[in-house]
Amino acid sequence: MNPNEKKTACITGATSGIGAAFAGRFARQGYDLIITGRRKEKIESLSQALSQEYNIHVEVIIAELSNDKELEQLIEKISQIQNLEILVNNAGFAKQNYFHQEDLSAHEVMLKVHNLAVVKLCHAVVPNMLSKGKGNIINVSSLSAFCPFPTNAMYCATKAFINLFTESIALELKGTGVKVQALCPGMTRTDFHEKMGRDKNTYYKDSGMMKAMTPEEVVEISLQYLEKDKIICVPGINNKISRLLLKILPQAVIYKTASSMMQNI
Ligand SMILES: NC(=O)c1ccc[n+]([C@@H]2O[C@H](COP(=O)([O-])OP(=O)(O)OC[C@H]3O[C@@H](n4cnc5c(N)ncnc54)[C@H](OP(=O)(O)O)[C@@H]3O)[C@@H](O)[C@H]2O)c1
Repeated sequence: MNPNEKKTACITGATSGIGAAFAGRFARQGYDLIITGRRKEKIESLSQALSQEYNIHVEVIIAELSNDKELEQLIEKISQIQNLEILVNNAGFAKQNYFHQEDLSAHEVMLKVHNLAVVKLCHAVVPNMLSKGKGNIINVSSLSAFCPFPTNAMYCATKAFINLFTESIALELKGTGVKVQALCPGMTRTDFHEKMGRDKNTYYKDSGMMKAMTPEEVVEISLQYLEKDKIICVPGINNKISRLLLKILPQAVIYKTASSMMQNI
């Protein structure tokens, strides 16, 4: 890439998993990066590895996205970047608990990280992208956006918000050169489940309907979908089958299955 044409991609939650895979993919394409996370040592070591391997500039922003001040600092930063071509709103987490037993403050954190931060970051970058007539935004949602799941109420609901929000603004922006995608992965091998107390070495399945994808596979499919202007991206055949079943099965069957899959807390 010609240094005068240097483009920048911003990825939230790039410490590990899907965000780190997006960072690696865009670094390989020669993008400068702004990556956010909270595990300082881990994200800084990723930053160092990518900048050395691909000769790009990587800026790390340590940000708790539920913290208003830290989010505002990130927004200010990316609003000033004229050549920001890609925004991936990827940061996210899950907590498994009955809705009423979890502290309200924990629900508020999830709303802020999964929804408010996504809305604010999109709002900050779209005008600039529009003025250039190009730009890509990927909002990382989940297969859970399509299905109610007891003990995951806030996760499912905040991800469903991402889908409708993304679809609506993607339609508003149709034909402008600014593309927006809601990426809805299913089971993916990242640090996500380990943070919920699962053992990374035994939790993921290598075969069957629950076979876990790698974050790199998810990212490749997301970018292929973006190329084809598809707004909702459900990566992988198993996830596509699940989504189809969720569309065609009677709601009563879905409720029964979801309830039977609920694990003891
Ligand atoms: N893994 C799956 O099976 C799966 C399935 C469907 C959807 N997803 C979605 O994929 C996205 C990426 O998750 P992942 O699976 O790659 O998990 P991951 O490896 O745990 O990465 C999550 C990233 O989000 C950041 N993050 C989490 N909470 C944050 C907060 N409050 N403030 C700021 N940053 C925060 C983490 O930062 P630190 O680690 O530095 O704290 C990390 O960089 C999430 O939105 C998740 O909901 C994952």
